[in-house]
Amino acid sequence: MDIKIELATESNISTLPQDSTKLGFGQYFTDHMFFMDYNTQRGWYNPRIEPRRDLVLSPSAMVLHYGQQVFEGLKAYRGEDGGVYLFRYKNNWKRLNNSCQRMVIPPVDPDVITAGMKKLIEIDQQWIPQSEGCALYIRPTIIATDPFLGVRPSETYLFYILMGPVGAYYPEGFNPISIYVSDKYVRAVAGGTGEAKTSGNYAGSLAAQKEAREAGYSQVLWLDAVERKYVEEVGTMNIFFRIQDELITSPLTGSILSGNTRDAVIQIAKGWGVNVVERRLTIDEIAEANNKGQLKEVFGCGTAAIIAPVKKFFYKEKEYQVADGQTGELAGRLYKYILDLQYARIEDPHGWRERIA
Ligand code: COI
Repeated sequence: MDIKIELATESNISTLPQDSTKLGFGQYFTDHMFFMDYNTQRGWYNPRIEPRRDLVLSPSAMVLHYGQQVFEGLKAYRGEDGGVYLFRYKNNWKRLNNSCQRMVIPPVDPDVITAGMKKLIEIDQQWIPQSEGCALYIRPTIIATDPFLGVRPSETYLFYILMGPVGAYYPEGFNPISIYVSDKYVRAVAGGTGEAKTSGNYAGSLAAQKEAREAGYSQVLWLDAVERKYVEEVGTMNIFFRIQDELITSPLTGSILSGNTRDAVIQIAKGWGVNVVERRLTIDEIAEANNKGQLKEVFGCGTAAIIAPVKKFFYKEKEYQVADGQTGELAGRLYKYILDLQYARIEDPHGWRERIA
């Protein structure tokens, strides 16, 4: 499929903060977007790059009422050698099409969206920030556009890619964060939509997020919805616990998002000889390990957050400090190694990096 290209007549790049460590997350957007339409007669058609613009949607567009939507999050990095790099993006396309299947959205052709994304990054590459921890965030999204209020899958969709330069996801920067264990709200249950990357999962998380913020914590740690005792994931990340000589993370049981960074952490840590274990872990076991001095570190990981060490957690009226409350040894090593890989500062033994410009 040929990609039509219409370039913007002017750039708004001058609105970027001079100091790229002040970028924050999700506030600035590049000049162009990739779009593609779907209808039942033509399938996905009309791939194109256009100046970034607001969308025109019917107020009855199905996505606005029933949330039939999926998205992804990935990054492009400016390498130390000036090149532009992507990291394991094929995994994002696999997860995107899995999310599509769950939300009854027609799958997209990975080759077409790869071509569209690469061209878009090439056009907007001057936006890729260079500071440590900063990157160009890429948000592929699909929305249901039928103007119809009955509940059924839409017959028309819009696929788009929005991009923007980002720094640290959390206001703490890359310093340790605090988390709040919710035993009142739940995020997902096997058979539900927790494994899909879809907007409703995040909408449903906001009440717990608000409660966490009000109590002075930055993120929610979700427990399983059935027994409310097994840890699952954090608001925008997967989570790892280092207890004695094990690095433990929840298995992908159907209610947890299969994170690209989670998978990278597992493979890297195993390669370093760390005893990585995917098993169910109760919050009581974690609290007890902490009380006995066996909880050495806790960290979250995700594309947006990279590696986020956890300094303390709150559960049932009690606050637990993790070890000395500082970034743990393994979290620090993983953070550095993953960034070194992404910025092409070291060899890539896994073949995860792809230079695209
Ligand atoms: C990502 O890590 O890319 C995500 O999609 C999390 C996002 C909700 C901020």
